[in-house]
Amino acid sequence: MKILLTGGAGYIGSHTAVALVEAGFEPVVLDNFANSHPLVLERLADIVGQQIPLERGNVLDTPWLEDVLRRHQPAGVVHFAGDKAVGESVANPLKYFHNNIGGAVSLMRAMETVAAETPDASPTLVFSSSATVYGDPASVPITEDFPRSHTNPYGHTKLVIEDMLYALHAARPAWRVGVLRYFNPVGAHVSGLMGEDPAGIPNNLMPYVAQVAVGQRDHLNVFGNDYPTPDGTGVRDYIHVQDLADGHVAAIKRLLGGSTSFTVNLGAGRGHSVLELVSAFERASGRKVPYRIAPRRAGDVAQCWADPGLAQRLLGWRATRSLDDMCADTWRWQSGNPNGYRSS
Ligand code: NAD
Ligand code: UFG
Repeated sequence: MKILLTGGAGYIGSHTAVALVEAGFEPVVLDNFANSHPLVLERLADIVGQQIPLERGNVLDTPWLEDVLRRHQPAGVVHFAGDKAVGESVANPLKYFHNNIGGAVSLMRAMETVAAETPDASPTLVFSSSATVYGDPASVPITEDFPRSHTNPYGHTKLVIEDMLYALHAARPAWRVGVLRYFNPVGAHVSGLMGEDPAGIPNNLMPYVAQVAVGQRDHLNVFGNDYPTPDGTGVRDYIHVQDLADGHVAAIKRLLGGSTSFTVNLGAGRGHSVLELVSAFERASGRKVPYRIAPRRAGDVAQCWADPGLAQRLLGWRATRSLDDMCADTWRWQSGNPNGYRSS
């Protein structure tokens, strides 16, 4: 059973491809490599022992997408493709509205057109949303019924796409739609062959810490130590990317099993501070991670973690890997591939 992964060469998509193969599905990767490297496909083949089909192109190209859907007839589509850098979205909002919202509209239209050619089709779509849709939550843990808001154009695109999916499902009840709100995905494949490969200076904590540990950066700037949290630094729900990948398999299975649509948090359900993560990384790597306290980063919230209960009840899924696992796997990837996929 084929599953089409838009943005499948990216960080989360590539790990999901592995989990899908392990669960007996046939992933098809669709990507334009705007933020990934073709070498990912070789690493994927090394891990799963088979070549994963690639469709190289842009999700904004609707006629091409229709052609891809007709040729592969996937049982479901997971829509990872999009841009994800919060700061860039503030500086260049039109890029985000065009690629993220435009890409989602293009995909939905292509799926609708192709579904109309088959009697009794149930188009099945899983969407990569984000905990960013909760804005600054009034309390933690966060359940799916918390109010949504946005503080930057990237977050705005996630909110708009969620709303488009809800409207589409209301108009076309045959569609099966899974909205997955990821918390903070980190870590790497346990083999050390695949991981996160950010272009330029990492925006996110874990890849930055990893680059300090490997000696590429001098020190970490800790953005604020005066938050109302146990040690004053920001608290987040870090989730191992392989747990997250398993969450997608559970979502696909639930949708294909005839479930109606759903929106669920994918998080580990506990928070760790910046300094806790730094200590865990030092243990995992055996390296010092020097840091300096810096001013708060604009737009950051004090703490954010999920109530993952709905995902467990609805999908039978929960995260199993610890912060130590996340750091150990990140270190294996970073130390073996200091320049990411460009190392080889
Ligand atoms: P990523 O950048 O590694 O992967 C996205 C992939 O989409 C890349 O391979 C890129 O080349 C591709 N892509 C982008 N625009 C495209 C287009 N127009 N046509 C075809 N391919 C295109 O990002 P990721 O971390 O794997 O994130 C995947 C999804 O999950 C994104 O939608 C992101 O917003 C969402 N998400 C990520 C995080 C996170 O912290 N990583 C958190 C919440 C949600
Ligand atoms: N942090 C530092 N120094 C750094 C980077 C981060 O101290 O160099 C701190 C932040 O202030 C925050 C924590 O580390 O307290 C985590 O920051 P990240 O940038 O790793 O993650 P965020 O929670 O800020 O944001 C991530 C994604 C967003 C997404 C959000 C919610 O980057 O796209 O999770 O899903 F919207």
